Amino acid sequence: MKRLIFATNNKHKVEEVKAALQGYVEIVSLAEAGLSGEIPETADTLQGNALQKAQWVWDRTHTDCFADDTGLEVDALGGAPGVYSARYAGEHCSFDDNINKLLAALDGQANRCADFRTVICLIENGEKKYFEGRVDGQILTERHTNGEGFGYDPIFMPNRFAVSFAEMPLEVKNSISHRGLAVAKLKEYLSK
Ligand code: IMP
Repeated sequence: MKRLIFATNNKHKVEEVKAALQGYVEIVSLAEAGLSGEIPETADTLQGNALQKAQWVWDRTHTDCFADDTGLEVDALGGAPGVYSARYAGEHCSFDDNINKLLAALDGQANRCADFRTVICLIENGEKKYFEGRVDGQILTERHTNGEGFGYDPIFMPNRFAVSFAEMPLEVKNSISHRGLAVAKLKEYLSK
């Protein structure tokens, strides 16, 4: 089976992607690959950040690898927080801080349309390829969660669903989510 290092320190993402690619690709986390340290993420586009993270691993290992970068794009905020979603409420802020800031920014706002967009950068034998996934939905006015998910999941309800990402079993989220769709494209490419 093909082995790919996933350039992320986010355990939730490793879990999600391992589940989605089970049986197709062996996903190796940074820790499993013996890599540690903060991966730089200083580009101003999702594609730029995905490349920067994958390149960081490639430069150290020369092993096939990929990275993803995701942004939550809120229509009423002109696409913010977008590429800055992780640090929306400041450096080293928590998921809760980000949610609180977003709920405050949308207080009284009727237009709650938003999307999650993921760009994956795969580096295979030194060559770069990109895969993108997107899901549209609404920002809820308060948290809805039964403990699933991470990040903005408790306040994001995908279109055609009556529950938030944080109320869905992982398999359901994976089948419709930004990252799930981008990973499906990666999987299709790798299985050719
Ligand atoms: P990253 O740069 O790809 O790690 O994603 C940036 C930020 O977007 C993360 O810190 C999370 O706050 C948020 N995010 C990414 N993926 C998801 C998701 O699947 N659900 C909810 N929030 C997410």
